[in-house]
Amino acid sequence: MNAKIDTGLSKADRTDVAQELTKVLADSFAVYLKTHGYHWNVRGPEFFSFHNLLEQQYRDIWAALDDIAERVRALGVLAPQSYSAFGNLTAIKDGDPEKDAQAMLKELMQDHETLIATARKAFEAADAAGDEASADLMTQRLAAHEKFAWMLRSTLGER
Ligand SMILES: [Fe+2]
Repeated sequence: MNAKIDTGLSKADRTDVAQELTKVLADSFAVYLKTHGYHWNVRGPEFFSFHNLLEQQYRDIWAALDDIAERVRALGVLAPQSYSAFGNLTAIKDGDPEKDAQAMLKELMQDHETLIATARKAFEAADAAGDEASADLMTQRLAAHEKFAWMLRSTLGER
């Protein structure tokens, strides 16, 4: 059975918005993976504060992955679920456990900025389509990643 989806959004709009959300999902997955990895591998006299800061961030991103993927499904599109599918959808580079703590935090700060740009594009697509639920989710993700970027920036001693 292939029931028609009648939620007030056209198939073209649902497909367009889902495509942008899928890019946000892939960037979020990559930033999640790197943040959790740096939580494990960060080293130095400020280990505990960095370790805990990164835990707070990866837990939030982990929860958001489910919200974003399920929003894609609600739009009638399949969510990507393999490492290779995620790898093809994101511009975020893999982390490097050999880096020192400052370099790890700086890299993550820049990754949040990349993710923010992706989420802003998805917000604009959702807004243009009149898809309030996706726009609302992207608004929440923008607020979260702008906050994380600020926390990392401040931890690095920058404004
Ligand atoms: Fe842990």
